[in-house]
Amino acid sequence: MAIALTAEQQAILAGEKGEVQAKVMRTLVMYGETFGAQKMVPVTGANGHLVTSFGLGVMKPVYALMDTLIEGGALSRQPFSVDPRPLDQNVPSNLLQNVFFKVMYSKQASYEAQLNKLGLLDESAFTCTCYMDEVGNKPREGDVLSWAESSAVVYANSVLGARCNRNSGIIELFGSIVGYVPYFGLLTDEGRKASWIVEVATTQKPEAQVLGSAIGMKVMEDVPYIRGLDTWLGTELNQDARDYLKDMGAATASNGAVGLYHIENLTPEAVRQGEALLRPDAKVYRIDDAELARVKAGYPVIWKDANAAPKLCFVGCPHLSERQLNDWTQKLTEALAQNGRKKVAIPTVFTAAPKVAEKFAQTPQAEALRAAGVVVSSICPLMYMNNPLCGKMPVITSSNKLRTYTSARYHTDAEILQLLAKGEN
Ligand code: F3S
Repeated sequence: MAIALTAEQQAILAGEKGEVQAKVMRTLVMYGETFGAQKMVPVTGANGHLVTSFGLGVMKPVYALMDTLIEGGALSRQPFSVDPRPLDQNVPSNLLQNVFFKVMYSKQASYEAQLNKLGLLDESAFTCTCYMDEVGNKPREGDVLSWAESSAVVYANSVLGARCNRNSGIIELFGSIVGYVPYFGLLTDEGRKASWIVEVATTQKPEAQVLGSAIGMKVMEDVPYIRGLDTWLGTELNQDARDYLKDMGAATASNGAVGLYHIENLTPEAVRQGEALLRPDAKVYRIDDAELARVKAGYPVIWKDANAAPKLCFVGCPHLSERQLNDWTQKLTEALAQNGRKKVAIPTVFTAAPKVAEKFAQTPQAEALRAAGVVVSSICPLMYMNNPLCGKMPVITSSNKLRTYTSARYHTDAEILQLLAKGEN
């Protein structure tokens, strides 16, 4: 075995904690060997996070595996949050879709019961933005994590300075069960060095979702060191900057496979280490207004009828922060008033973590948003759309992740605002 294990790790592998934990450890060791890891390191983050939140009827092996883990006492050492649920009856859907959802996600309730037994943080822990203050799963700088959700991994690595590989679903649960992960890639100092310098040279603040998309498609799984963005975001990681980086990062992770980026003068490692993070042979990618326009113009529209009137709009993938909910509410109510409208022209869903949505619901803005006809939900829009019925619907979104994985059509935030307030396509 190429990986050197400690006495405790060897004991787990030898079955001291039962055959199930031994298998879990063996799987993690094999995973590490595949990527050239030479040791296993402790998971130090307080909480895990699971990517698999949906009780798809066809995922029978997953439910059998969960039962085996539970019966074998291989429960998560760490409580974990989990990605958003695929269902919410408040999200507009027709009768046929509702029937379809029930069949498709027939295992939702029993799967959630399994998650509870394995170590679910609490009933509100269904969100991809588990790192938001309200949710209570925010890693500290330097923490080693066992997560898989790509938007959360890239945020934790880049904005919080935690250390996590882009693991797969289930593997991340295994790391939380035994409390160890193989040491390779983004866990290592060397793996966190940048092989790209991205120079942001735009004449205005770039749209987070398009900038992230451009970077992701260029660097793919490499680490970019981004220069010039501090001109637009400043040098303080305040809520504005964090929200921007959340959305930009999700686009880098989905349009490419970025697990970590550094922003010069802003993100923790870039502030501390600066250009020492650059590999000597780092390539340069310059992004100006024309490059962003080129990238955006290249997004295919895969609706059956490209000129169809949008039937639904999703904003918040990843889930919105409370500041973003407030910001959208203010802009939307102003735009509606300017256009002499009381309600949005397209059925619209804003998504946020359950605890963020709960907090927002106590504010006057929540009533304004409700009056404007917008539904606030904690659903995962991707899970809603990933089926033949919803896939055929003309859905618009300002999420580049949703655009990438579904037939949803991308518009910038400003374009979405215009479409909602004026109803023009
Ligand atoms: Fe989150 Fe679902 Fe989008 S997990 S990032 S809302 S695809």
